[in-house]
Amino acid sequence: MTSAVRSAAAADFDARMESWRARMERALDARLPGADAVPSRLHEAMRYAALGGGKRVRPALVFATAATLGIDEDTVEAAACAIELVHVYSLVHDDLPAMDDDDLRRGRPTCHKAYDEATALLVGDAMQPLAFHWLATDPKLPPSPAVRLRLIDLMAQAIGTAGMAGGQAIDLQSEGRTLSIAEVDDMHARKTGAVIRASVMLAAECAPQLPPEHRASLERFAAAVGLAFQIQDDLLDVIGDVATLGKATGADRERGKPTYPALIGVEASQARMRRLHEEALSALALFGDGAAPLVNLSNWLLSREY
Ligand code: IPE
Ligand code: IPE
Ligand code: MG
Ligand code: MG
Ligand code: MG
Repeated sequence: MTSAVRSAAAADFDARMESWRARMERALDARLPGADAVPSRLHEAMRYAALGGGKRVRPALVFATAATLGIDEDTVEAAACAIELVHVYSLVHDDLPAMDDDDLRRGRPTCHKAYDEATALLVGDAMQPLAFHWLATDPKLPPSPAVRLRLIDLMAQAIGTAGMAGGQAIDLQSEGRTLSIAEVDDMHARKTGAVIRASVMLAAECAPQLPPEHRASLERFAAAVGLAFQIQDDLLDVIGDVATLGKATGADRERGKPTYPALIGVEASQARMRRLHEEALSALALFGDGAAPLVNLSNWLLSREY
């Protein structure tokens, strides 16, 4: 591919990301309770945290996987909303003083700064069941009860102790300690990788009769992307720019977080990320050109600066 063709493809994909973001803004706005409904302060805080920001990477993974498998966007939209909602509440809680104690998120005051800590806790309490409610009841997701149960269980596993909550617990108990690479990999796979994996596999569950080898390829792809995503997040904390990122930098070092750059340095972390990117792409080989949306999304993730 010439560089002109490559940059035209990248521009096309930027437009696609933008259209997914716009779709998510509309879809979340329509599904979240209105700010005028009681309890209005809680609903307002939920809308504050969920709307008007974020890269929407997890929804993009849902839509790109669906496109790869020939499923239309309407079918998986509720799954994209549900996974974004659990991601948003994980951020709201992650920013609390009891966790990372951050004041800036998505370029604005964190939820507990804009509201208060009790409201930020309740935002999480309310978002988690709402995400499951959408998976259980959305009229456009596949109607089969067996599929619905699998979607619900996928989400449950992704955010429990084997996933996000477990990873966050390991993250907090590891502050100020030196972990081995294997331990950091495990922490990252849980705290970030599990929700990334679920984004891909929720869409995969909506595909009728997905062959086992296709499912296994998507699992391999998602595992590599999930780890690469958190390594990039750790790197951006060191080399990123606050205004571009919309969140603090240098915070991981300040809190003694066991990150990739802290453990092996910036360059080795970048090299590991590139290897994971190659691994993610090779996992998609089975799908041929059909996997272009996931390939383009992986390329976009590799070069992201926020
Ligand atoms: C940040 O996630 C937290 C991690 C799990 C690494 P994102 O970088 O996707 O944050 P938003 O959604 O774009 O704000
Ligand atoms: C958070 O990881 C992962 C979550 C499950 C929310 P970080 O603590 O590194 O995320 P940022 O850097 O605050 O976005
Ligand atoms: Mg954290
Ligand atoms: Mg944090
Ligand atoms: Mg971080």
